[in-house]
Amino acid sequence: MAYAALRSIGAYVPQKVLTNDDLSQMVDTSDEWIYKRTGIKERRIAADNERNSDMGAAAAELALERSGIAKEDIDLVVCATISPDYFNMPSNATIIATKIGLKNVTSFDISAACTGFVYILSIAKAFIESGMKKNVLIIGSEKLSAITDWTDRGTCILFGDGAGAAVISATENKAEAIVDVHTGADGEYADLLMTPNGGSGSAHDDLDKEAGSCFMQMKGNETFKVAVRTLTKDVKEILADNNIESDSIKHFVPHQANYRIIKAVGDALKMKEEQVVLTVHKYGNTSGASIPMAINDIYESGRLQAGDMMLLDAFGGGLTWGSALVPFSPLQK
Ligand code: COA
Repeated sequence: MAYAALRSIGAYVPQKVLTNDDLSQMVDTSDEWIYKRTGIKERRIAADNERNSDMGAAAAELALERSGIAKEDIDLVVCATISPDYFNMPSNATIIATKIGLKNVTSFDISAACTGFVYILSIAKAFIESGMKKNVLIIGSEKLSAITDWTDRGTCILFGDGAGAAVISATENKAEAIVDVHTGADGEYADLLMTPNGGSGSAHDDLDKEAGSCFMQMKGNETFKVAVRTLTKDVKEILADNNIESDSIKHFVPHQANYRIIKAVGDALKMKEEQVVLTVHKYGNTSGASIPMAINDIYESGRLQAGDMMLLDAFGGGLTWGSALVPFSPLQK
């Protein structure tokens, strides 16, 4: 049987830094309030002419280069995003595949908001284990600044731009395989976090009027509570299902939405500080890009070594949630 192994990681962050102090010039807020409630100090913002697919392509190029797998051997590209270059079509995955010179691939996007990377990990795993594909490029890429309401202090302080990518490939060696991926969703909570306008749910005549209101809206306080409850349950379940103790996790890589959510879930698992990967202070919430950007961070700082077991968890609009147990399994040179 074929198993699926995570071979490499890559990321891209835009140059422009937007600090909490910068935000306090734009809306009624302060560095102290934002840092205390979220753990965020600054976030990156893409340039006007920098597209989501440009960031995704840069992250994907890096992941491919590091994987040691030839471009012509990639047979599937999946992108998780809620801020694609074009809503509906063409897909970001298809644009990125073409930008980086991939031919003869299957490519599509998925929409699972901040859980997007965990979802595309499960898709890569399923395609590989079924034997349908062998080498899958997965990308989480977001230009959230384009769908942020910069007059709403309840949301604009949280989000940032960036991209991350990974190459997942087939292996016969179970020891290097992705152990498990959990995914879940509950549309009963759809209105907690959404872009309410601009889709086909809007009357045709209203689309022009609503063009400026295709922004994210969130009930932050309720979202926070559901996030902590759902994630704590989910990460405990994935560890128990696989008979893995939290102290054998080398890196706990949570979705980087809010330090207080990360801390609550980490504490419930009795994670030590050195196990918990944090980038929320410097990138804010980059939705589907946040987990691969965080994995890239520990890779580039030399903390991520071959064989290290990672526990990923994420939560987002939908509502969606998920977790994964993933060893880092680069191809041996
Ligand atoms: N600066 C200053 N004050 C702010 C503010 C800001 N940026 N945003 C909100 N406030 C105010 C509110 O108006 C409210 O004022 P009031 O008491 O006078 O009515 C007060 O702060 C408390 O608001 P509340 O929304 O209850 O704050 P909170 O402690 O829940 O923190 C969030 C707000 C958004 C930081 C927090 O709810 C959160 O992080 N939620 C989860 C968000 C998330 O992770 N979403 C993505 C999931 S992937």
